Amino acid sequence: MRLDYLTIFPAYLDALRLSLPGRAAASGLVEVHVHDLRDWTHDRHRTVDDSPYGGGAGMVMTPGPWGEAFDGLGVGAEGSGTTTLVVPTPSGAPFTQAAARELATRERLVFACGRYEGIDQRVLDHAAERVEVREVSLGDYVLNGGEVAALAVTEAVVRLLPGFMGNAASLTEESHEDGLLEYPVYTKPASWRGHDVPPVLLSGDHGAVAAWRAEQSRRRTAQRRPDLLHPGEVLAGAGEWSAV
Ligand code: ADE
Repeated sequence: MRLDYLTIFPAYLDALRLSLPGRAAASGLVEVHVHDLRDWTHDRHRTVDDSPYGGGAGMVMTPGPWGEAFDGLGVGAEGSGTTTLVVPTPSGAPFTQAAARELATRERLVFACGRYEGIDQRVLDHAAERVEVREVSLGDYVLNGGEVAALAVTEAVVRLLPGFMGNAASLTEESHEDGLLEYPVYTKPASWRGHDVPPVLLSGDHGAVAAWRAEQSRRRTAQRRPDLLHPGEVLAGAGEWSAV
């Protein structure tokens, strides 16, 4: 998988060399390219933003550099395979484990990291004529830019690539893979600072352990994320990627 990042803060993405994506790059599973959007500006100040039409606070990222960057990187060029343009934004569709699984099937992901006031919408509309565009949100809060979100999406996707994780079971047993939160986990010692490991986990009864874990998952999910148990009641009818 090829990963491209367009940003005005390339140093933010130094973390890609660490941890999971770093290992994936070292093993040749992914190829990582970080680009400074300002390389596609032509004025002395290397301008990438301007005031919003219609008024309002903040600045909007101007379309010119984005368009030239996509052209220069061959985004949507003939025969470039399955490419998805990922645009982190607080007004995107929620980024989920299901979305990570879908993105993990692509040959190329291009991340457009904008500042939070946003990128001129025509950039995304124009790109969507050539490639799949996904505006994704990490959650209901506002970050200063898309870089941290792009790192999060990358880590969620890369760890799902075939050949990445040694232990396939640990992928299927974790939170969200079955739509529920994961049960609590324990390791040695059996007693620590007056807190004991739940006795069933020491019983050797695999059926009882599985039943206890399933109940803990359900209970945790009901307490912390009831929306996962009754999704329709929270996201009434909204298709995850519907263009709204
Ligand atoms: N950019 C700014 N805020 C964001 C968020 N919550 N999710 C994804 N990208 C963002």
